[in-house]
Amino acid sequence: MTTKTRQILVTSALPYANGSIHIGHLVEYIQTDIWVRFLKMQGHQCTYVCADDAHGTPIMLRAQNEGITPEELIAATDKEHRADFAEFHVNFDNFHSTHSDENREIAETIYKRLRDAGHIEKRTIKQAYDPEKEMFLPDRFIKGTCPKCGAEDQYGDNCEVCGATYAPTDLKNPVSAISGATPIDKESEHYFFKLADFEGMLREWTQDNHTQSAISNKLNEWFESGLQSWDISRDAPYFGFEIPDAPGKFFYVWLDAPMGYMASFKNLCDKRDDLNFDDYWKADSEHELYHFIGKDIAYFHTLFWPAVLSGSNYRTPTAVFCHGFLTVNGQKMSKSRGTFIKARTYLDNLNPEYLRYYFAAKLGNGIDDLDLNLDDFIQRVNSDLVGKVVNIASRCAGYIKKKCDGQLSAECADSALYQSFVQAGGKIAELYEQREYSHAVREIMALADKANVYIDEQKPWTLAKEEGKEQQVQDIYSVGINLFRVLMTYLKPVLPVMAEASESFLNIEALKWSDITKPLTSHTINNFKPLMTRVEQEKVDMLVEASRQDLKTEDSKQEHDKKERKASVEKVDSKKDPIADEIEFDDFAKIDLRIAKIIKAEHVEGADKLLQLTLDIGGETRNVFAGIKSAYQPEDLEGKHTVMVANLAPRKMRFGMSEGMVLAAGPGGKDLWILEPHEGAQPGMRVK
Ligand code: 2FM
Ligand code: ZN
Repeated sequence: MTTKTRQILVTSALPYANGSIHIGHLVEYIQTDIWVRFLKMQGHQCTYVCADDAHGTPIMLRAQNEGITPEELIAATDKEHRADFAEFHVNFDNFHSTHSDENREIAETIYKRLRDAGHIEKRTIKQAYDPEKEMFLPDRFIKGTCPKCGAEDQYGDNCEVCGATYAPTDLKNPVSAISGATPIDKESEHYFFKLADFEGMLREWTQDNHTQSAISNKLNEWFESGLQSWDISRDAPYFGFEIPDAPGKFFYVWLDAPMGYMASFKNLCDKRDDLNFDDYWKADSEHELYHFIGKDIAYFHTLFWPAVLSGSNYRTPTAVFCHGFLTVNGQKMSKSRGTFIKARTYLDNLNPEYLRYYFAAKLGNGIDDLDLNLDDFIQRVNSDLVGKVVNIASRCAGYIKKKCDGQLSAECADSALYQSFVQAGGKIAELYEQREYSHAVREIMALADKANVYIDEQKPWTLAKEEGKEQQVQDIYSVGINLFRVLMTYLKPVLPVMAEASESFLNIEALKWSDITKPLTSHTINNFKPLMTRVEQEKVDMLVEASRQDLKTEDSKQEHDKKERKASVEKVDSKKDPIADEIEFDDFAKIDLRIAKIIKAEHVEGADKLLQLTLDIGGETRNVFAGIKSAYQPEDLEGKHTVMVANLAPRKMRFGMSEGMVLAAGPGGKDLWILEPHEGAQPGMRVK
């Protein structure tokens, strides 16, 4: 059967450039990656692009807090994200950034086309403004007392205690979460995209199978409540692209984020001869375009995005596929329970293919939430992959290798059984195509059971003891190996690394759907090596514990940032120099102050204020990042003494682990004082 080669462009939502990838994100990337791998295995030209979502206020402020530029933050996150995705085998054809030349050009082109077609309007609006920081405040940067239940310290749009939603102006005692100042109302002119111009087009588009039915229903509710114009501008200071005809105004991050899909693809087209940007994006393109997203961002992708594309004379998506959220052990991921698991923490403890398999075994094509139950995870992976699939290869390989020189029989001894496995491929392929992975996995595991039952019933190990049964035994094990090959072909989109290891074991080219119609005969296989090991309970426990530790590191970092913010607010009013909250003597006694000798001092790449110090505190060395770069050249510090807090819990910083804090006196800026060696201090000496 020949199928037409399809040209397909696939995207996953762009992760923000100010945070780590966690297992909640990975549901989507793994879901998409499986689909893309499957389509590629079918011989289609399928291209998978993504990028970091690099604009917006949170990224600007985070960079400020860390004393680095947004570009430096973006570059560091880009590196981290790429490494996480690669190790989870999420195989993007291109990973780019929304803060790129391609995206700027696309955003400007689209904006100008929308403006010239009359889809942009200007209006003056009133918004909360931080008079100290001199910037408008997004809702999430205003905090105050919930107007409904009185809970303090709630964000500007909803209360985490009672769940009420409200406007930031409803909060009691509102304060800026950035400076602590009381926000004032301030007017400014904003640019709006007239979404209602596209109501007819959107009503048609959304009913035309471009979205799942649950999303179409939601869209109908949105239509009923009326399509409001969308505010696409933000005032300076903002990290993003300046609007071409409006100095000091920037595109709102959510305007240029989905354009990042186009920008990443454009960037790829410029590197590849076989891909043409216009072929995929022109208004009448026949190529396919799919976006995988979480259900929380459906509004942006099923209303704004198709409307923006249509209004600027580009094609609209073939479909937008939404998925649900991840829960762990039946509950929202929780930092204190250790179930808020970062990709890196997972990778430090467990094989990524376990998670790929588990997600596949649970994913359907709807928008229901998906639960990672850690006990079930262990049981499922061990019983299905190790107990069923790998078991087939391991029980057949030994005899073939030892007694038959690795040679499979010249003919398939049970072609009916083999053909039944091949026949099942049609349904499994259809299930993959429909993103019904859990159903596909059930079908594959039913085949694995069937293969094991076949071997059990044939009892080749008994026959092997009988005289003259060698051929029969070789035939049975050869059938087993061939069934294993079919199973691994079906599992390859989910388990690319295990599939590759199976290819070496089977001594074959890359497993292909179209190759399985014929079994391997008179073919020599290689030695069997374990293709997957069992998930160990202890490793899962370690993962949970390590995730709890991540929280502690983050908490102490946030606490530190909060204190720094407080300190910087206090510095603004130089007349007042308040003493920090009083502490008891016992608190002071807990601080272990030691003389430390600075053995090495180095610049830290990407940090404006930090130096990396190696300190000797009397036979023990510590690595400490100290914010004293403004006062010293590293070479001037080496050999000098300082006082350090030796029992401060280590803190993970962007640049590494900091194992203490040095105390340097002085007003800051250029004047900080550190002890000279001749001042009599000895490394390790207690200071109090
Ligand atoms: O919700 C998010 O994490 C966004 N960064 C997703 C953007 S998807 C696309 F529009 F760019
Ligand atoms: Zn409340």
